[in-house]
Amino acid sequence: MSGIKDGISRALTSSDERDNSSMGLSEDQFLSIGELSNTGMNYHDVLTEAFYITPIWKWMVSDIDEMKKLIPILYEIKKENPEGNSRSNFGSWQSPDDLHIRPEFKNFVDMLLNIAEVQIQNQPWQCIGMWAGINPKGGGNNVHLHEGVLSGTVWLQVNTDLSGGLAFCDPRIRSKMSGQRGMTLFGTNNKGYHPVEGMGVMFPSWLEHFVMENKNEEDRISISFNLI
Ligand SMILES: [Fe+2]
Repeated sequence: MSGIKDGISRALTSSDERDNSSMGLSEDQFLSIGELSNTGMNYHDVLTEAFYITPIWKWMVSDIDEMKKLIPILYEIKKENPEGNSRSNFGSWQSPDDLHIRPEFKNFVDMLLNIAEVQIQNQPWQCIGMWAGINPKGGGNNVHLHEGVLSGTVWLQVNTDLSGGLAFCDPRIRSKMSGQRGMTLFGTNNKGYHPVEGMGVMFPSWLEHFVMENKNEEDRISISFNLI
């Protein structure tokens, strides 16, 4: 019996099994280049296309001093809400989601809306939620995704080497079905950033991501947001 189901569920371990099989799906059955004695029909115009690209937009805040003035405001909010929100965060504090409607953050929000409208898609955007994360040593975020269309983060205080990077999960999750060989061929992997202060990113809200543990003594401070 042959078929895709057999090809996935059955391991080909011996040469006998290989000879008797017509499944054609095992890595064992591929010929190495050295074994190819015949190149077959001639062909031309081989091209590698790249469909289904996942865009990530990255920028640097120029007004670092103005941005840094938000840090004591965040600690004030933390003092008023010591429990914070419990979402994907572990060992860390997450602020209420309403920072975007507080006047102190207007310039910050306007920067985000400007980037979305001018740099990404020329239509009005709206911020539907914005919150801060203060991660002390040991804090991070488990895998999660956001609501909205565009989401992102700006890092206000971070140590590039120690504070914990932002990692995006490869959304082509089905590519993992083709095993290590396929994952190598298709470049299946988590990718991300070890951010610097003043760096911002936007990404599709549906893109799963996580934040690695802060290994620095100083708090890692970021502001995240959702736009529609
Ligand atoms: Fe997030």
